[in-house]
Amino acid sequence: MELQVNGNKHTVSAASDTSLLYVLRDELDLTGSKYGCGEGQCGACTVLMDGKAVRSCRVPLSATQGKQITTIEGLEKEGQLHPVQQAFLDVDVFQCGYCAPGMIMSAVALLETNPRPSEEEIVAHMNGNICRCGTYPRIVKAIKEASN
Ligand code: FES
Repeated sequence: MELQVNGNKHTVSAASDTSLLYVLRDELDLTGSKYGCGEGQCGACTVLMDGKAVRSCRVPLSATQGKQITTIEGLEKEGQLHPVQQAFLDVDVFQCGYCAPGMIMSAVALLETNPRPSEEEIVAHMNGNICRCGTYPRIVKAIKEASN
């Protein structure tokens, strides 16, 4: 099957019901997206599919046909971090960092549709992304900074 990731076309040999997360990590070596729960509950595996945040652990390869997938590795453009990535660094969000790629991809999806979200809108949108270190206040601050 074919897969479009970060602007590149790949031919992958995995079965059509293989999870997108598995294909990204184990076939394409794009290990930025993380495996947390494998059940669509934690958000660590979040990527964009045609610009919409999806849990890649729950997306079968068959559902990606004809879609553009963007992973954390595809955000940087010409050596420039995406504003959300830069804001996460500036605010020093990271603690263990495991949730960060999924957090950032969810935040990117939010700002694509709502460039100036309120704090309530940020919290509501990010609700499904879990951070075991509890860095939520810094995550909200970074997203606010990226939206300015
Ligand atoms: Fe996909 Fe937790 S690993 S939502």
